[in-house]
Amino acid sequence: MSDVPLVHRSVLLDEVLGYLELDGKRLVIDATLGLGGHSEAILQAFETVQVIGIDQDTAALSSARERLSRFGSRFRGFHSNFTDIKMVVKEAGQSSVDAIIADLGVSSMQLDDVSRGFSFRSDAPLDMRMDATSGNDTAADLLATLDEEEIANLIYKYGEERKSRRIAKWIVERRDKGKPIQTTAELTRLVERAVGRSSKDKIHPATRTFQALRIAVNDELGILDKFISDSVDLLKPEGILCVITFHSLEDRIVKQAFQKLSGKCFCPPRIPRCVCGAEKRVDILTRKPVVPSEAEMNENPRSRSAKLRVIRKLAQ
Ligand SMILES: C[S@@+](CC[C@H](N)C(=O)[O-])C[C@H]1O[C@@H](n2cnc3c(N)ncnc32)[C@H](O)[C@@H]1O
Ligand SMILES: [Zn+2]
Repeated sequence: MSDVPLVHRSVLLDEVLGYLELDGKRLVIDATLGLGGHSEAILQAFETVQVIGIDQDTAALSSARERLSRFGSRFRGFHSNFTDIKMVVKEAGQSSVDAIIADLGVSSMQLDDVSRGFSFRSDAPLDMRMDATSGNDTAADLLATLDEEEIANLIYKYGEERKSRRIAKWIVERRDKGKPIQTTAELTRLVERAVGRSSKDKIHPATRTFQALRIAVNDELGILDKFISDSVDLLKPEGILCVITFHSLEDRIVKQAFQKLSGKCFCPPRIPRCVCGAEKRVDILTRKPVVPSEAEMNENPRSRSAKLRVIRKLAQ
């Protein structure tokens, strides 16, 4: 994949480097390696640091390995889901780490690779699995097997699409006629017709439906809580966890997970004692999420929705 242009500067790069506090430190996990941009900057800036990179996408992994090969044994890449971060760290022969970064969602490479089926701007099989080797259901499989209500709920919950019921109805009607949705272009046209296109829309009408399917196919929200608590287990005292999100559903989960880890109780009011397991294990370093500068947003439109939240594990 050496012909992939490494055009984008990684999102919130200076801000992440600032928060990671890596002077004299030893080991960082990049849980979403992607094109290896954050890892490269870390390896370049901090000579004592080794990076373990994780990505569930084999194409991303091999392109990052190539990009980072000049750092020799200071970089090691693993093909895995970050939900298995503890297993990866063990496999790497380590038991604790100084810092962890996760820059969630899809990479520009995945979006630009037409064949992966992430984009409504081109025609391809409706796949959307970040790990194409996984054997998990593709987006087309979900639309072929879920019932109408399940499809509607999925598009509403993960896409915040108000016309989810209508879209689901049209998908199932088409399926019942023996023409299940199989490609991105078929889905795009169906959503355009079901939702209609208003000149006031800032985004393409299929954006929300595509986002919903991508989140469902990759279980993007379901795995975050476990990843965050496993990460805190792995951090050394005073270790840092940085998480960058790209939409409000993700950001809400990260914000609440961080609040809970900082001791905030989420039990319903009037309950006599805390049963939600809130226990202070970290300090929150970002009272409000850090967002990209105007300059970064102009240079890289994808960064517009990015939010960085950071926690530091307590000293003991
Ligand atoms: C936004 S990109 C990361 C870009 C990277 N920080 C850079 O600077 O080049 C996100 C990457 O994380 C990977 N990814 C997303 N969810 C994952 C998960 N649950 N486990 C492992 N990798 C994941 C995607 O395959 C993608 O390559
Ligand atoms: Zn509680």
